[in-house]
Amino acid sequence: MTKRIQFTAHGGPEVLQYVDYQPAEPGPQEVRVRNRAIGLNFIDTYYRTGVYKPPGLPSGAGSEGAGEVEALGSAVTGLKVGDRVAYATGPLGAYSELYVLPADKLIKLPDSISFEQAAAVMLKGLTVQYLLRQTYAVQAGETILWHAAAGGVGLLACQWAKALGVQLIGTVSSAEKAALASANGAWATIDYSHEDVRARVRELTGGKKCPVVYDSVGKDTWEISLDCLKPRGLLVSFGNASGPVTGVDLSILAQKGSLYVTRPGLFTYASSQARLQAMADELFGLLASGQLKVEIGQRYALADAAAAQSALESRQTTGSTILLP
Ligand SMILES: NC(=O)c1ccc[n+]([C@@H]2O[C@H](COP(=O)([O-])OP(=O)(O)OC[C@H]3O[C@@H](n4cnc5c(N)ncnc54)[C@H](OP(=O)(O)O)[C@@H]3O)[C@@H](O)[C@H]2O)c1
Repeated sequence: MTKRIQFTAHGGPEVLQYVDYQPAEPGPQEVRVRNRAIGLNFIDTYYRTGVYKPPGLPSGAGSEGAGEVEALGSAVTGLKVGDRVAYATGPLGAYSELYVLPADKLIKLPDSISFEQAAAVMLKGLTVQYLLRQTYAVQAGETILWHAAAGGVGLLACQWAKALGVQLIGTVSSAEKAALASANGAWATIDYSHEDVRARVRELTGGKKCPVVYDSVGKDTWEISLDCLKPRGLLVSFGNASGPVTGVDLSILAQKGSLYVTRPGLFTYASSQARLQAMADELFGLLASGQLKVEIGQRYALADAAAAQSALESRQTTGSTILLP
């Protein structure tokens, strides 16, 4: 018998239980992976609280990790037992020693990337890839605003933006987080716990403001983000760390400068194996060249997933957090 984390009701971190678990044999198109490291992501908390609905209860948690192929379905090609793999778009259940998922969600890992690095960077790095390169293709010389810049996604965005020659203004909630974002390549930081973000963005951009704002904080920053955009700028609202944005009167977009808003998700951008692989290739290329480094701020035992989620939700973490089975 192996172990996994599951929840049978929505609620706080205490609903996460560490239980005995025996996964089903892989179906024809599936693979069983022995996880060596698992990624912790804010989205995991949305499923736990019920902000996002899991397919059913009890539910597994998590969708990112890295490990070795242990068993293959009869129709799987291109993979063999013992292959080192990673994934970021699997079905809920990655918080587990053993994890069965569709083979086309797996990416083979280069030897240069450890299991821990992969678990820390796959979901967050692929997210930064599509946000900076696809949702809005940032150009060298542009100045952009990125909220929660010292988080897991945020620190990768700071580095990736710098590699592209983009000036990233990062918001953070403490001086320590500001220093970390700067060390990772943020061009400027704003402590939104006490600074006026609108005024600082105007000042930093010489009054021009930004062509794009990346906002994963949600409810608390929605209007601030709109006010930091140039006319016809794009707000990329990609998360709800402070709660979801609801009840929007669309005329606000006209009033604030004929703005655009998109609410993207990784699963759409990585919807085919070819797209997923292309995004991963770009991510691995930046890791190999040293332009991107993985900042693992916290490691927890898989059994302590509740403590890990509690730290993430209470803004105590920086960079990526991984769970070790
Ligand atoms: N749409 C997608 O495809 C996609 C994919 C991946 C992640 N995301 C989103 O990206 C965001 C970052 O994910 P992550 O896993 O890397 O998490 P994270 O950034 O490491 O943690 C969230 C950060 O949000 C900030 N925050 C602001 N208000 C908060 C509040 N009321 N409660 C908690 N945190 C608050 C905190 O930083 P400060 O203390 O500096 O404010 C906190 O550290 C999340 O919103 C996630 O849902 C979206």
